[in-house]
Amino acid sequence: MLFVQEGDGYPLYARPRFPGGRPSLADIAAVRERQRELGVPEAFEWVHETTPDLHDIAVEAGLEVLRAPLMVLEEDALPEPHPHVRVLATRPPEVPVVAGIAFSSPGTARGEAGAADRDAALAGATQENTRHRHAVADLPGEGVLAVGTAQRAGDVVEIAGIGTLPAARRRGLGGAVTAALARDALDRGAQLVFLSAGSEDIARVYARVGFRRAGTACIAAPPA
Ligand SMILES: CC(C)(COP(=O)(O)OP(=O)(O)OC[C@H]1O[C@@H](n2cnc3c(N)ncnc32)[C@H](O)[C@@H]1OP(=O)(O)O)[C@@H](O)C(=O)NCCC(=O)NCCS
Repeated sequence: MLFVQEGDGYPLYARPRFPGGRPSLADIAAVRERQRELGVPEAFEWVHETTPDLHDIAVEAGLEVLRAPLMVLEEDALPEPHPHVRVLATRPPEVPVVAGIAFSSPGTARGEAGAADRDAALAGATQENTRHRHAVADLPGEGVLAVGTAQRAGDVVEIAGIGTLPAARRRGLGGAVTAALARDALDRGAQLVFLSAGSEDIARVYARVGFRRAGTACIAAPPA
């Protein structure tokens, strides 16, 4: 199945039907051809445990496959709310700006980029209405240091785009933003809150605020 974006949101990926048959190299080639026709990314995502054969086929097709811990919220393990994290229905300009700087420094290590880089990038950025919920860690005297987004389909919520400015890492803010979005999702009736962690190191940040590993999300694309 190939999801095609309508209106706002991220450009989406193709995924196997569930339950489906055994995937083949020809299936992957056909989907990639259609993605090129539509001008959408040649991206695939699936849950390894439900379609275990697809991993090796995707690698054989020349795609790079990230195996990301797929984690589900265990409600009772959520920590107390952080006093300076809030959840918003509109997307303030800091959300894409801080996420952009954070994702330019992958991994969990601290780094140089900080509030001054954020402020330089904020010039001219505007607030936007989206269908998602957004969280910001907005520290007195420091401004927005960490952000994240939650998107909902029915009573299922996925948390994504968690990012902390490199200079503000390892202060608990990434975990606090994730926890605030999870709490907000539950308060608004979500029955299942999940996320995929980019690595085992990042999974520890989410585990600390109540997420438990449920499987492996495979995220595949052609090499950059
Ligand atoms: C992943 C990311 C969001 C984590 O943000 P963060 O604000 O540093 O997260 P936290 O502070 O909650 O946790 C990070 C580490 O700091 C530690 N920590 C938390 N509070 C702390 C405190 N008060 N003092 C010292 N260390 C602390 C945590 O224990 C954790 O340690 P570990 O790596 O040994 O497990 C950030 O590194 C990032 O933006 N990475 C790039 C973007 C990205 O990959 N996002 C996730 C996509 S799935």
